[in-house]
Amino acid sequence: MIPENAGPAAVIVLAAGAGTRMKSRTPKILHQIGGLSMVGHALRAARSITPQRLAIVVRHERDLVESHVAALDPQAVIVDQDDVPGTGRAVEAALEALHADQDLAGTVVVTYGDVPLLSGELLNELVATHEREGNAVTVLTAVLDDATGYGRILRGEDGSVTGIREHKDASGAERLIREVNSGIYAFDAAVLRDALGKVTTDNAQGEKYLTDVLGLARGAGGRVAAVVTADRWQVEGANDRVQLAALGAELNRRTVEAWMRAGVTVVDPATTWIDSSVTLDEDVRLLPNTQLHGATTVARDAVVGPDTTLTDVTVGEGATVVRTHGSGSVIGPRAAVGPFTYLRPGTVLGEKGKIGAFYETKNVTIGRGSKLSHLGYAGDAEIGEDTNIGCGNITANYDGQKKHRTVIGSGVRTGSNTVFVAPVTVGDGAYSGAGAVIRKDVPAGALALSVAAQRNSEGWVPAHRPGTRSAELAQAAATNDSSSTPASTEEGK
Ligand code: UD1
Ligand code: MG
Repeated sequence: MIPENAGPAAVIVLAAGAGTRMKSRTPKILHQIGGLSMVGHALRAARSITPQRLAIVVRHERDLVESHVAALDPQAVIVDQDDVPGTGRAVEAALEALHADQDLAGTVVVTYGDVPLLSGELLNELVATHEREGNAVTVLTAVLDDATGYGRILRGEDGSVTGIREHKDASGAERLIREVNSGIYAFDAAVLRDALGKVTTDNAQGEKYLTDVLGLARGAGGRVAAVVTADRWQVEGANDRVQLAALGAELNRRTVEAWMRAGVTVVDPATTWIDSSVTLDEDVRLLPNTQLHGATTVARDAVVGPDTTLTDVTVGEGATVVRTHGSGSVIGPRAAVGPFTYLRPGTVLGEKGKIGAFYETKNVTIGRGSKLSHLGYAGDAEIGEDTNIGCGNITANYDGQKKHRTVIGSGVRTGSNTVFVAPVTVGDGAYSGAGAVIRKDVPAGALALSVAAQRNSEGWVPAHRPGTRSAELAQAAATNDSSSTPASTEEGK
């Protein structure tokens, strides 16, 4: 299927390298920044220029990479590279897989799976320049202070690009060149195919270099040119975890800045981390040490933080979320969460509701205006509207084998330390006394009490803990009492 407004004939993403410097059991390109794998970022940039075909060349840990890519971009063609090493060989394999000989004509773009900050805009600019100038090859380059390791851009007297020399093959003079090959190019498909047929492995690394295509294309009379970017981050790859963290921090800096420009207040950009998949409305306020991940969305006038981590959480308009760790939850408009609150998946808090300090919730729907203010656990439950759950309430939802549901109506008032032994239902407008253990359904409007009568054993402490500070104080109190009002001898009820 060819997308509408189709861009180049193909984008080929190179991802067959081993990535040994990562020292990881996870393939390099599956490491994440901004909540998405490096190859995920590469595929997104590639897709944004709407290529007719998208191929990704794999070899190292190919099964893991294949299933990851298939999940992100099911239309991408997975291409296996054989034993012949080199970027040229990788592209050759992709061209074969895309049936280059039959139907691939026009522009073919090559990018890397480990260059995550490359933007669709820059790729677009590369393709537009390539096609406008009628080039055989257009290479994306950058000028670096330290070009060590990179292929150097060779230019003729007139400034035109004549070729690329790999660092390991370069002379002393060539190594002084600071303009480097990013490894990202636009090629004319026919030129690319013809030149690759002539590329040898006769070089310092014994590889089939894609970079040799430039010299060959020029030799065959084609025009070779460069697009020089001033934004070095967009062409930077991550080879180890130090570079990965640097790229992650730069991506985050860009994401946070973009949200500030879109009307979000970020009090401390340095400690605010926002995945590229998050969406925020105007006039959201993010306080220091806030991390927003996954499909999190925050609506207008909501305040999140400080010290809050939300993953796949929907925050409603005007809500406040303070010192909270939450995932897979919905926080309604003008609702309040925190401080020190743990929202687990399936928590749905209604408008103007509250989940307060030291609460854990999971799979619970809480109606509009209902409050769970302090200390407790609510799981596998449904709570109606304008209900007040007292301090220290717990849904005992697990009998050791199965989970059961607690259903609590609207306008309910529960006493402190009420335990709901699920499955159990509490009707609208019911009350419970402090310490109630609700094992049976409570009808609407009833007061549920399950407390044994209290018994005071008079004089127990002085008799059983003689000589302690408690006993001394108890005796002093008894003396004081008897000198003023007579001590009650009745047992409490
Ligand atoms: C390559 C370029 C170099 C450029 C640099 C930019 C060549 C010959 N050299 O060098 O000019 O400055 O990138 O980073 O192209 N890959 C495969 N199959 C292979 C080898 C590599 O798919 O057989 C992939 C890797 O996974 C990686 C990319 O190609 O995504 C670049 O490979 P790498 O080994 O890093 O190339 P460099 O030697 O750094
Ligand atoms: Mg490299």
